[in-house]
Amino acid sequence: MKKKLLILGVSGLTGYKIAKTANSQYEIYGSYNVRHAKIENCSVFQLDLTKKEDVTKVFSEIKPDVVINTTALHNVDFCEENHEQASAVNANVVRYLYENSEKYGSKLVHISTDYVFDGKKKTPYTESDKAAPLSFYGESKLQGEVILSGSRHVVVRPSVVYGWTPLELAGTVSSSGKPMNFAMWLLTKLNKKEPLKIVTDQFASATLADSLADACLKIGKSSKSGLYHISGLTCESRYEFAVKLARKFGYDSNSISEANSSSFVQKAKRPQYSCLDSTKAIKEFGLQLFTTDKALDVMKSQVENEGPHLLPKCD
Ligand SMILES: NC(=O)c1ccc[n+]([C@@H]2O[C@H](COP(=O)([O-])OP(=O)(O)OC[C@H]3O[C@@H](n4cnc5c(N)ncnc54)[C@H](OP(=O)(O)O)[C@@H]3O)[C@@H](O)[C@H]2O)c1
Repeated sequence: MKKKLLILGVSGLTGYKIAKTANSQYEIYGSYNVRHAKIENCSVFQLDLTKKEDVTKVFSEIKPDVVINTTALHNVDFCEENHEQASAVNANVVRYLYENSEKYGSKLVHISTDYVFDGKKKTPYTESDKAAPLSFYGESKLQGEVILSGSRHVVVRPSVVYGWTPLELAGTVSSSGKPMNFAMWLLTKLNKKEPLKIVTDQFASATLADSLADACLKIGKSSKSGLYHISGLTCESRYEFAVKLARKFGYDSNSISEANSSSFVQKAKRPQYSCLDSTKAIKEFGLQLFTTDKALDVMKSQVENEGPHLLPKCD
């Protein structure tokens, strides 16, 4: 009999990729909140994770072997002004998941963020670096991490998660507060020939969602516990990433202009540097993580097959 995998947030980018990658390895269940998603080989159902009794009911009915929590409220500026809602999704939910995972013997893999760091370091952050969030989003995600600290479960921290997903093109706004991932947003803007201003002073190691999904599945099968950084291998500014993406997809990168983060009015502070060192996860789980160049090759071939209308038109 196949083991049962419960993906929380299957309507989101990472959740969708996990369902696609897991394919026939498990009997797969996936929850959405407001964006109904139809995914092959996955029993999809609605669940608002902030409703504790509903979460308990789902665990009691499915009794999952592995649970991967990709859900979050991650509109950083919204979280800055709505602390209660941010903590409800990013921290209280983790408590419900922890309690139910203990009760039903499930292995929990929970996704956190690079925004737990203040960005003062100038070399990639390791798991032993001290968290010191600048924003309430980062603070609420750290609250979630603390709940699992010292447990038999795993917390994974990625940085700028991106990738191809057809679900984000449907136009329905997610309750995560994130309408589109950075790469898809860039691609749609480039496709519409809209000018772009991208910051040169925020550095991250952007993470291909396919790599994150693969890592979460490997971790779900292992008996290891603790904290792992999982990101792309290239540490660069958002501007450098955007130019690489434009060139890779055949767009004119001259439509992207350089900007300083101080030129944008934003409620929450962002770390200027949140590149992650994934050495520990690579060694312990035998992961194959990608440079931006290689990751964009993967994404481009998916867009060519499933969303060719996003490629430049031949005039
Ligand atoms: N994206 C990034 O750049 C980034 C960077 C660092 C860390 N992370 C972390 O990586 C994880 C995955 O990110 P992602 O970009 O794949 O997320 P995403 O595409 O925005 O998807 C988030 C998912 O959470 C679900 N959700 C939100 N609130 C919920 C609630 N109250 N109850 C049930 N489900 C709820 C959404 O459901 P509906 O869409 O159906 O409403 C959606 O399926 C998150 O934990 C995030 O904090 C992301």
